[in-house]
Amino acid sequence: MTPLKNDLFLRALLKQPVEHTPIWMMRQAGRYLPEYRATRARAGSFLALCKNPELACEVTLQPLDRFPLDAAILFSDILTVPDAMGLGLYFAEGEGPKFERPLRDETAIRQLAAPDPEDELGYVMDAVRTIRQALDGRVPLIGFSGSPFTLACYMIEGGGSDDFRHTKAMLYSRPDLLHRILSVNADAVTAYLNAQIRAGAQAVQIFDTWGGALTRSAYLEFSLPYMQRIVDGLIREHDGRRVPCILFTKGGGQWLEAMADAGADALGLDWSTDIADARRRVGERVALQGNLDPCVLFAAPEAIEAEVAKILASFGSGNGHVFNLGHGISQHVDPAHAAVLVDAVHRLSAR
Ligand code: CP3
Repeated sequence: MTPLKNDLFLRALLKQPVEHTPIWMMRQAGRYLPEYRATRARAGSFLALCKNPELACEVTLQPLDRFPLDAAILFSDILTVPDAMGLGLYFAEGEGPKFERPLRDETAIRQLAAPDPEDELGYVMDAVRTIRQALDGRVPLIGFSGSPFTLACYMIEGGGSDDFRHTKAMLYSRPDLLHRILSVNADAVTAYLNAQIRAGAQAVQIFDTWGGALTRSAYLEFSLPYMQRIVDGLIREHDGRRVPCILFTKGGGQWLEAMADAGADALGLDWSTDIADARRRVGERVALQGNLDPCVLFAAPEAIEAEVAKILASFGSGNGHVFNLGHGISQHVDPAHAAVLVDAVHRLSAR
């Protein structure tokens, strides 16, 4: 494999010195880019795009061809894992993800098993290998998965939800069943991320989108320990290089200290936490990634630049910062504003 031409992202995650703060954007490949919409139309659907390694590679590279981003992220979805478990993922137009067979009854829960990532999810590994080759060392490739709890939310609800009533009802009345699902998910995610690493992912991020909807005690029982189990089982070095791991719990600012002890190299922050405050709380234990409010990208270029400057100043000098949005980029953002963001981060952070 070609050596990396830009390893700022990996260095920042390991708290090593960098020439400027690296940046990537959650959901950087997506509907705000007209070229993404064109490729998706050619694929026929979002799922067909995920399952076609050549087209998944094409959309992974699209944001990098527009902006000088410091990392690429595999184009896929967190819900491919429950799909491979047999739940039947589909996307109803304008309604988000749905499962044909939500996981609610005890028999189905007892039968749930982790898929073989090289088999049922072989298309993801093919995409990772295709992307690594196409990147040719330009920037590192990030692999990812959902957290066991976030996956469980979609599996139990059968789609998105604003209150997670089925999941939380199970949590409070049949915690044994939820623990069983989480345990299978943790095994599935560990094997899935390790397969991505073997296929060429150079860092991994665990998306815990809904962990922040839990009470503190429920988070410490139902989300964090299962992420920790994954981190404990991850391949940490591959091809002679450390493979850093990032934990992102949206709304996780309340319990960062506990997250910092899970063994990950870095924590992702949403915009509700002040990054200076977060840094004081986690100390030297982890690097931090974040945390611009994604809605800042709807503002004028001068305002975007001012908000970038605030975050850079708030993090302060020293190592261990990867710039990112606090959550995914909106489909309504003007790509020219994303360009302003990337340029501002590089320019204002140059050492
Ligand atoms: O960051 C990237 O560029 C990589 C690609 C990526 C996607 N989904 C592509 C996608 C990643 C990392 C994800 C993760 C994901 N998927 C999460 C966790 C991150 C987060 O946003 O909190 C979650 C919760 C999902 C589940 C999911 N997939 C939802 C809720 C939706 C619908 C959301 C929407 O905006 O409509 C998806 C679909 C999806 N995943 C799209 C993309 C680009 C839009 C699909 C389309 O093209 O219509």
